Amino acid sequence: MSNRTFTMIKPDATSKGYTGAILDQIIKAGFSIKAMKWTKLTTEQAGLFYDIHRERGFFGELVEFMSSGPIVAAILEKENAVEDFRTLIGATNPANAAEGTIRKNFASSIGENAVHGSDSDENAIIEGDFFFSKLERF
Ligand code: CMP
Repeated sequence: MSNRTFTMIKPDATSKGYTGAILDQIIKAGFSIKAMKWTKLTTEQAGLFYDIHRERGFFGELVEFMSSGPIVAAILEKENAVEDFRTLIGATNPANAAEGTIRKNFASSIGENAVHGSDSDENAIIEGDFFFSKLERF
């Protein structure tokens, strides 16, 4: 069990002005921010980040969407971070997300679902390394 996970606040949420409210919910849930940046992915970068989904039917849509506007990338720390963060954000499809979760509160569809959260300790490290150098995390 690791104490770190990785998240992105996605372009739907940043464009609707939800960034502050989402960060507030994350911090109030007990996560501390170990690295954070506001940036915009190219289609190539979004494709590399989501390479594991390259063969899925929604890959093109996912890459277009994730490079359509600014995102916030962050490394978060808390005991049992990966699992607890996935509970906090709720189901991938907001229609199935539990009341009070970030996706229930802020997401509109399975594609435009407000936030990303790592699905394993291994991927949390890979995804954090994708965005942050050693100098950018504390
Ligand atoms: P995320 O947790 O960032 O990981 C992969 C993303 O692919 C997922 O959130 C969704 O936004 C997206 N995704 C998964 N399934 C679909 C789908 N059926 N249609 C469009 N996007 C999807």
